Amino acid sequence: MTKVVHAVGARPNFVKMAPVIKALDERPGFSRSIVHTGQHYDPQLSTEIQNDLGFPAPDRFLGVGSGTHAEQTGRVLIAFEHALIEEAPDLVIVSGDVNSTLGCALAAAKLGIPLAHVEAGLRSFDWTMPEEINRILTDRMSQFLFTHSPEALANLEQEGIEAARVHFVGNTMIDTLRRLAPAARARVAWKAHDVSEHGYLLVTLHRPVNVDDPDRLDALARALAGFAARAPVVFAIHPRTRARLESSGALHKLLETGVRCLQPLGYLDFLSLQGGAGAILTDSGGIQEEASVLGVRCYTLRRSTERPVTVTHGTNVLLGEDLSRIGEIELSGDRTPCMIPLWDGRAGERIASVLAAAYAAEAGRANG
Ligand code: UD1
Repeated sequence: MTKVVHAVGARPNFVKMAPVIKALDERPGFSRSIVHTGQHYDPQLSTEIQNDLGFPAPDRFLGVGSGTHAEQTGRVLIAFEHALIEEAPDLVIVSGDVNSTLGCALAAAKLGIPLAHVEAGLRSFDWTMPEEINRILTDRMSQFLFTHSPEALANLEQEGIEAARVHFVGNTMIDTLRRLAPAARARVAWKAHDVSEHGYLLVTLHRPVNVDDPDRLDALARALAGFAARAPVVFAIHPRTRARLESSGALHKLLETGVRCLQPLGYLDFLSLQGGAGAILTDSGGIQEEASVLGVRCYTLRRSTERPVTVTHGTNVLLGEDLSRIGEIELSGDRTPCMIPLWDGRAGERIASVLAAAYAAEAGRANG
């Protein structure tokens, strides 16, 4: 029996790992334990998402919580090492690029436990993003690098990572989207916010570069208020963004101009709001991908994207950091869902196939 520890910690990890856990559960020869670091702990960012996904209950909750990058990553490293010593797995699987990803990967690597990274090879080439550091270091430590796009493969080749460790399997986040899109559509979540289908701009913003500097956040709030004079704006506000908007008084101004200021939503309600939007304005990584598959125009408020396939093959428009460009956003009900190679709902199965073949070969060597 090959024992696998699946590590999760923050909202996007659940969405990316659910298909991997399911596909490996269906394979004989694997047992598993799920470890939740507790990086995200609020119900809207953790348990509500898990419920929507039908995510299996984690076996361990490490409760690391929030803090500076060093505090959070360090707490994950220490707590996850304890968990690994008790679990003694043959393989650890991590996903994405959050601080939990790096902390868990480092603990596994230091204990000499093989590591698999789901969503390997993404690069923004912007080292000011904490996620870029997390991705690059996690890839360096991984024995199995599962990529979702050809450019990820090219990035890893350029960094000298041997091709035998890299497997182009597709996008597990899109596996989850394809599985749950009908249930999300049925929610018609926009109705609860008194806006019409295709008639609103959906906004999410949480990157430090956009929300941590009070002057920039204030200018952003003014730009959103300006847009709200043209068309309804539905703003799903991440806790870190809300805290900063509240302390600067900008939240009050947004509410006055009619911007719908929502708490973070569960997976199904948010997917429903994405599908019904006339356009999306975001600095998230995953939303660039989801919007492309849904065929909804996505405007990304960042100077770079680690997901260029969403620009070349999808609906993504990279706005840069210039807030005046928010005025360029057009709402539209046209839908041309983009077919990106291997974003077909079967990435989790491909990952399970690669791992089954690798561990069957290993068992064969051990027996013979
Ligand atoms: C993290 C990831 C980011 C990802 C995002 C998805 C890192 C470096 N960042 O950002 O890549 O896109 O998750 O949501 O790992 N907070 C709460 N409740 C919670 C968790 C956090 O209120 O359950 C607040 C706290 O004030 C905390 C702040 O949000 O200090 C930031 O949380 P943190 O986990 O450090 O990063 P995110 O901004 O959520």
